[in-house]
Amino acid sequence: MTNPTHFLEIDDVTRDELETILDRAAEYKRAQHEGEPHEDLEGQTLGMIFQKPSTRTRVSFETGMTQLGGHAVFLGEDDIQLGRGEPLKDTSRTLSRYVDVVMARVFKHENIEVLADYASVPIVNGLTDDAHPCQTLADLQTIREQEGGFEGVSAAWIGDGNNVAQSFTVGAAMTDIDLTVATPEGYGIDDEVVDRARELGGDPTITTDPVEAVTDADIIYTDVWISMGQEDERDVRMNDFEGFQVCSDLLEHAPEASIMHCLPAHRGEEITDDAIESDRSIVFDQAENRLHAQKALLSWLLE
Ligand code: CP
Ligand code: NVA
Repeated sequence: MTNPTHFLEIDDVTRDELETILDRAAEYKRAQHEGEPHEDLEGQTLGMIFQKPSTRTRVSFETGMTQLGGHAVFLGEDDIQLGRGEPLKDTSRTLSRYVDVVMARVFKHENIEVLADYASVPIVNGLTDDAHPCQTLADLQTIREQEGGFEGVSAAWIGDGNNVAQSFTVGAAMTDIDLTVATPEGYGIDDEVVDRARELGGDPTITTDPVEAVTDADIIYTDVWISMGQEDERDVRMNDFEGFQVCSDLLEHAPEASIMHCLPAHRGEEITDDAIESDRSIVFDQAENRLHAQKALLSWLLE
């Protein structure tokens, strides 16, 4: 069996590799905007397993493969035998015989690790309960465009210490972004993630005070309070996250900050409509950059 490179966490690539991928993402963005062909993955196929819904991840990966001259196959859990109990390890080995790379969106993070353990092609994490590294690639591309680089950039994560927050924390450490994470008590990012960020040279500030976090920040980033699979916790979470909404009162403490959200957004919960529609919002640049960053990732994994 070959030994493929997987992308399960943002720090599965080195700092140098991350920079290479981000440079390539910028180049693909330019080529696509200028209508220049870039069919670098001609004849290659991506399998896309989804156990949860998706708009951006699904469409950006599928469109990205088309633009690269390749092909993508959508594999909703209930459309394949996985939904009827076929083990992931069998699904992984079977798909490895057909496709060149697999992207999967699953619930438990250990399930993507099972896919990777049994695959003979690269496995890409398209979101698990613990991590969303493809989102982080696009986030970093967006921040680099917005700020002209990473040096001296400060960012504040406000809200749930969820999958998006955890990958962003590690990605910020890898790019020397000065990050403060503000979550309610009990909703912080895992200690293991903070340790990884520190080992990578970061020093995230952890707080429960959103005002402290956003004061003078360049970037304010939030995500939903109720992630996919947490619907039963709605009432408790709505109560616990009070005071963590990205709204005009909070934004007053960071008059220059750009506003980020991985989308989909729940307006009136973690962010107000005003905030997301304001001139300071770069959420659709983030969404667009999913396309370019993932094309760069796929072509890097397959070269
Ligand atoms: N941000 C993100 O992953 O969006 P989707 O759930 O629509 O893929
Ligand atoms: N934290 C969210 C991200 C969606 C892209 C979720 O897991 O539902």
